[in-house]
Amino acid sequence: MTFMPSKIELAQLPTPLQPMDRLSERYGGPRIWIKRDDLTGCGTTGNKVRKLEFILADVRDKRRDTVITCGGIQSNHCRATAILGAQLGLKTHLLLRLDSPADNSGNLFISKLTGAEITYLDKAEYSKLDIHAKEWLKHYSDLGHQPYFIPTGGSDSLGVCGYINASAELAIDFNENQITPGAIILATGSGGTQAGLLLGCGLHSIDSQIIGFAVCDDEAYFKNKIQSDIQAWLRCRRSYEPPKVPEILIIDKYKGPRYGACLPEVYDVIKTIARLEGIILDPVYTGKAFYGMLREIERGRFDSVSDIVFVHTGGLFGLLAQSGSVQPCRIPAERF
Ligand SMILES: Cc1ncc(COP(=O)(O)O)c(C=O)c1O
Repeated sequence: MTFMPSKIELAQLPTPLQPMDRLSERYGGPRIWIKRDDLTGCGTTGNKVRKLEFILADVRDKRRDTVITCGGIQSNHCRATAILGAQLGLKTHLLLRLDSPADNSGNLFISKLTGAEITYLDKAEYSKLDIHAKEWLKHYSDLGHQPYFIPTGGSDSLGVCGYINASAELAIDFNENQITPGAIILATGSGGTQAGLLLGCGLHSIDSQIIGFAVCDDEAYFKNKIQSDIQAWLRCRRSYEPPKVPEILIIDKYKGPRYGACLPEVYDVIKTIARLEGIILDPVYTGKAFYGMLREIERGRFDSVSDIVFVHTGGLFGLLAQSGSVQPCRIPAERF
C-alpha cells in the first residue's frame, strides 16, 4: 500500500455492493451492480463525506476553527460540509452560486438548519470566486479565527484519498462476489471522485475501466481537471512508487441542457429505478449518469463484459429540491 494522510472516521463504511438483478434481466446485458455510497450517512449521504474524512482531518491537524467552501445553490458538498462542520464544532461558511431565486429546499435547507453562514453570489460574482474566498479568509483571520478553504466538491489532493479508500473496499467487494467488472461507472461533477477511483484502482490492481459520465462541462475539461488532481496527489507522495493509473474515460453526451437541469428521460429513469429496484437516484448527478449507462448498454458498449458497477454517489436532497419536476409515473408499475 501507499502512504495515506490522516483521516477522521465520519462515514458509515464499508457501503454495500448490491446486484440489480431485475434491471439486469430487463436490459439483457452485463449484470449491473450498485455500490451504495448513498448509504455513507443520513444527512451526510453520498460521496462527499469520504473526501471530507481526509480534508477535515487536515483542518483538525492544522488546528483551524472555520471552514469556508463553495458550490451551487443545491451543492451536496456544501451540505455535507455544513453537517460535518456542526458535528466537529467548526464554524462553516458557504459561498453559494445563486442562478435563480433560492427556494430554501433540499441541500440549502439542510445547510441552513446546521447554522452555516451563507453568502450568495450571482454568476458574475461567482466567476471571481478566488477573490471572494481570499477576502473571507482574511475577514476571519482579522477576527482572530483560523480559517481553512475547501475547493469546489472537495476535489483536491486530500479529497481524492476518499475514493482511493473506496477502491480498497471495491477490491474486497469484487473478491467476495467473485467478479471482475468490465467497468466502474460514476457521475463526474468536479472530478475528484473519478481521480480517486483511478488512483485507487491502480493501487489495488483493479482491472476495470473507470467511466465518468459528465454532468456539466465536457470531455476535454474533465480529462484535464482529473489529470491535475491525480498529479497533485502524486506530487504529495513523491517518495512512493506511483501506481499505474488506468485511462481517464469521460462520456459527456448525456449531461442534458446544463448543470442542474436534465432531460425528461432522466426523470423517467429515476422513476423506473425507484419502482424496479427501490433505489433513489437524483436529477443532477446519479440520474444523468445512470441514464447514460443504460443508453450505452443498449448501444452495445458493454456486450463483451459480464459485470459492471455503478457507484451511487448520493444526491437525495437535490432530488427533493426538484420534486415539482418529477411528475407521477404515467406508466402502470407492472409495465416496468
Ligand atoms: C451526488 C453527487 N454525485 C457525484 C458528484 C460528482 O463528484 P465529483 O465532484 O467528485 O466529480 C457529486 C459532486 O459533485 C455529487 O454531489
